[in-house]
Amino acid sequence: MTIIIDSQDKKTADAFASSWNHLPGGSVYTAQQFNDWFEPVTQTDVAGKTVLELGCGNGSLLCHMTTWNPSFIEGVDLGDSVLSCQKNMAQTGFTNYKITQHDLTKFQGNGYDLVYCIGVLHHLKNPLEGFESVLRNTKPGAKFHCWVYAKEGNAVIIYIVDPIRRAVSKLPWWFTKYIVATPLVVPYFIYAKIISTSKTFRKFPLYEYSRWISKRNFMFFRHVAFDQLVTPQTAYISKDTIKEWLNKYSEIDKNSTYIIFRNGNSWKFGGKKNRPK
Ligand SMILES: C[S@@+](CC[C@H](N)C(=O)[O-])C[C@H]1O[C@@H](n2cnc3c(N)ncnc32)[C@H](O)[C@@H]1O
Repeated sequence: MTIIIDSQDKKTADAFASSWNHLPGGSVYTAQQFNDWFEPVTQTDVAGKTVLELGCGNGSLLCHMTTWNPSFIEGVDLGDSVLSCQKNMAQTGFTNYKITQHDLTKFQGNGYDLVYCIGVLHHLKNPLEGFESVLRNTKPGAKFHCWVYAKEGNAVIIYIVDPIRRAVSKLPWWFTKYIVATPLVVPYFIYAKIISTSKTFRKFPLYEYSRWISKRNFMFFRHVAFDQLVTPQTAYISKDTIKEWLNKYSEIDKNSTYIIFRNGNSWKFGGKKNRPK
């Protein structure tokens, strides 16, 4: 395992390691959540191909990725979550993988058929540098796929949760998890379970997102709440910013790009790199 940990995102990566390294083994996501995070990317784009995840956490997405039969998988993360990632990947039975501890913004691999970066760019000091690394590591003609928190649809999070995050992310992780996140998430857990029962509530804040998360149990709610509160760095990214990113680089095939609003409060986006002329 290669290790490079000098980075402006080190504090963020350490905070996430305290989240990822204190979870039961295996993926925190269901197969349905995995598919939904990747759509329009499907198994056909991956089978027999090489895949890179930038910011892989404990390998929760990588574990599902093994079921799509890629030829090789690499996961990169700056934090010590690479330890739980390594254990989780070892349990999948898939053997052709490599986990690398490295700053993703500086990472340079050999080029991959699919590069994805899910839930990471909005936590970087410089999200655009992260996106540039996604492109740099994508082979010519190959696909990239990202997911970020949206500026749109997140007013409750930006004005209520984010100020709490700024304060509690400085506290010890266990305090944030058990004393802050656990009691805070109880009212949202009840709210989400209720509003997801009927379309009558469709105008309520976080309706779409609540329908998505309400399929999961309290532990998953608590994991997501802790994940939101533990990090010292979060940005909310607008559709216009993503359009700018996708238009900025000549190596992106402009006919291949997509931007999809997900769960009313986040953006999936991606496309292909041009083939060499
Ligand atoms: C919210 S987690 C997402 C993990 C995974 N992609 C998932 O969806 O389950 C964000 C991850 O990005 C990692 N990270 C943050 N800054 C990084 C950097 N500069 N280089 C590499 N990893 C970084 C953190 O350590 C953390 O594991």
